[in-house]
Amino acid sequence: MRAVEVGHEVVGFDVNTTRVDLLASGRSFVDDVSDGDAAAAVGSGRFVPTVDPARLAGFDVAVVTVPTPLRDGAPDLGHVEEAARILAPHVREGCCVILESTTYPGSTEEIFIPLLEAGSGLTAGRDFRVGYSPERIDPSNRTWGFRNTPKLTSGVDRASAEAVAEFYGELVDDVVPVPGTREAELAKLLENTYRHVNIALVNELAIFCNELGIDVWSVLDAAATKPFGFMRFEPGPGVGGHCLPIDPSYLSWQVRRSLGRTFRFVEIANDVNDHMPDYVVSRVTAHLNRDKKPVNGSTVLLLGLTYKRNSRDVRHSPAMMVAERLQKLGANLLAADPHLEAADVPGGITLVDCTDDQLGAADLIVVLTDHDALDWAAVERHAPRVFDTRNRLAAGVADRL
Ligand SMILES: NC(=O)c1ccc[n+]([C@@H]2O[C@H](COP(=O)([O-])OP(=O)(O)OC[C@H]3O[C@@H](n4cnc5c(N)ncnc54)[C@H](O)[C@@H]3O)[C@@H](O)[C@H]2O)c1
Repeated sequence: MRAVEVGHEVVGFDVNTTRVDLLASGRSFVDDVSDGDAAAAVGSGRFVPTVDPARLAGFDVAVVTVPTPLRDGAPDLGHVEEAARILAPHVREGCCVILESTTYPGSTEEIFIPLLEAGSGLTAGRDFRVGYSPERIDPSNRTWGFRNTPKLTSGVDRASAEAVAEFYGELVDDVVPVPGTREAELAKLLENTYRHVNIALVNELAIFCNELGIDVWSVLDAAATKPFGFMRFEPGPGVGGHCLPIDPSYLSWQVRRSLGRTFRFVEIANDVNDHMPDYVVSRVTAHLNRDKKPVNGSTVLLLGLTYKRNSRDVRHSPAMMVAERLQKLGANLLAADPHLEAADVPGGITLVDCTDDQLGAADLIVVLTDHDALDWAAVERHAPRVFDTRNRLAAGVADRL
């Protein structure tokens, strides 16, 4: 969208016909891009969403942002490889290809470039430019978006580094050149691993605090008043999305493969964060037990199913994991999530509105994702039956994580 805005002619190539058709009709599937933005881009005549690889011909700059998931715990670069194969025949002398997908150090040079070279008959660096510039978007963050978040750039040689920095220099406020592609790849993994580890730290603290009878949120409020040396992270029902459950494992996988060693911080963080949905279920069970009710047959209303506030992304959502476990235990599950439609919700969960009637009828209400669009005043009226994993309700009002 930003490249269109600054005047480039942009081809949006994707293998997913549904997404391309949606964009072509001026509608967006991305949280931070409105339908209006997508329609304006298409209407400008300088944005062409397509599934036709022939439209890739003649590009000056190509940006590759395909998924990099895990398969059986190991990085799956199949989409990056496929994208490179599709792009390669269209690589010409002087063009620039940039990888943005999150991946382990060495991917650009060891996997991406050989495929571009093989399919084009040209040599990276000498004939065309190649670089790596990690995607840093924090979905739904209204303060930090694509434009004002500094963009790390790198290239396989000096000319590539300059071409990548020049391209993004037009699109974002600050470009930060990094000495090499490996450093840029690892910087992205470090950012996400740092977040993953610190969330695990406060999650484990939250569990111990509950057992010690100490309010973890008050502890965080207190510690966060220190103006240096402390950064606040929030406990919750686990981590989700495309980044935190995956990226740190790219790093630990590579350390194990290359050095034969264990990246212990990543392993511990995975262990703690992966356990959080089970912990939430244990607290739900305790709540119902206090009211002399079994999980089996109780009506549990889940507030929020996406992995993140104000987002519609359910990928690896811990809320979904909580739902799955409660369902297995026989709970009658209702969910209120204004960002989802019935088709997004797994079978067995009834999507409802967050009304007084629904809140009043539930044996227990569990806050899993604190979307702003939920009616928090109404939720608070039912506070004695609310278990809040997100610190949305005030201290002393409801039981919190
Ligand atoms: N979503 C985020 O907030 C975010 C933030 C930082 C980094 N990243 C990274 O960006 C990358 C993409 O993530 P995403 O969330 O946008 O994924 P996504 O699955 O939403 O989108 C990727 C798109 O790539 C398409 N695709 C797959 N193979 C293709 C191919 N060969 N040719 C053309 N298109 C192809 C898919 O159809 C899909 O539409 C990942 O590496 C991710 O880790 C994402």
